[in-house]
Amino acid sequence: MRNLPPKMTTNAPGRAGSLLLALLAVGGPALGSGRPPKTGSAEPGMRTYSPPDHPPPEPAATPELMQMGERVYKGACLGCHGEKGDGEGREGKYLPIPPRNFTVGQFTLRTTPSGSLPRGTDLFRTIRRGIRPDIDMASFTFLSDREVWAVIAYVRTFSPRWKEEKPGEPVVIAEPPPQTRPMVEAGRKVFMDTGCFACHGEQGRGDGPAAAALTYDSGLPVKPANLTRPDWFKGGPTATDVYRTFITGMDGTPMPSFADSLSEEQRWQLVYFVLSLGKPETSAQK
Ligand code: HEC
Ligand code: HEC
Repeated sequence: MRNLPPKMTTNAPGRAGSLLLALLAVGGPALGSGRPPKTGSAEPGMRTYSPPDHPPPEPAATPELMQMGERVYKGACLGCHGEKGDGEGREGKYLPIPPRNFTVGQFTLRTTPSGSLPRGTDLFRTIRRGIRPDIDMASFTFLSDREVWAVIAYVRTFSPRWKEEKPGEPVVIAEPPPQTRPMVEAGRKVFMDTGCFACHGEQGRGDGPAAAALTYDSGLPVKPANLTRPDWFKGGPTATDVYRTFITGMDGTPMPSFADSLSEEQRWQLVYFVLSLGKPETSAQK
């Protein structure tokens, strides 16, 4: 895993850089050309997936919007996600974490149940905020809201799932109960009994006994999250975010959904235990 801060010295356009600059930079041979700045992902408080969060309403998929989407995709996404949306872009092939293959129609960052399509607002957040500071999927702060919706419409053309199915309904998450010490302690037991430790390790460092052999559905290797770094959680670091992550699961990865196997009480115990792993003493270590 690379160290923070992520490469801030790329030849990417500055924050005020326009899509035009990104378009011009695409096609350059160097890894990272055309990569937008990662400013958005560094702003504390930006990364939660929880409300308040109100992406602007999705515009109708007019031919004009689709054309805009294609233009944005070719300028800002194709280098990694590939012309066919299969994740085999020229740069994408060499990234330590593979870009999503959009032809499969599976997404990890959703408010919707395991196996269902994400909502447009889920995709909007992912593209607007980026995924994690060390991952090359940047936060596309230089795209207008309309450009983000346009590229989402274009991304949906890669998989037939989007014609056949509707996105799932967001999972309902209650207000988090107050955190108590006994809850954290009970959470450790849930963590062990449910088998979280097998992948994430007893200390949550991502080094459990099963960790080394894990792969994406595609067969490529994947690492379990280091749970001592909640600031790096792709699905967000708040109690509600962590609850959502293990209830929805991360489709296409070995991270399962625990929607059917835990009581509401156990879920919050687990949330607070997971968050206790990221205490400052431990998170400073990696
Ligand atoms: C520099 C490479 C790169 C570029 C450019 C890039 N992505 Fe990604 N993208 C990635 C990687 C890597 C992942 C997988 C991250 C992971 O699995 O954590 C990803 C994942 C995604 C996901 C899946 C999130 C999920 O829920 O699973 C979406 C949607 C996405 N990208 C959209 C876009 C769009 C739209 C653009 C252009 C505006 C874009 N990406 C540009 C590298 C890139
Ligand atoms: C079979 C292995 C496996 C098991 C069991 C497992 N996980 Fe995971 N988990 C993963 C992998 C792999 C990822 C990373 C997926 C990715 O980043 O694409 C992950 C990611 C996560 C994340 C971080 C997601 C993010 O936002 O970046 C959390 C939190 C998490 N797991 C919690 C749990 C909890 C709690 C349990 C037990 C209830 C559990 N996991 C069980 C493999 C597993």
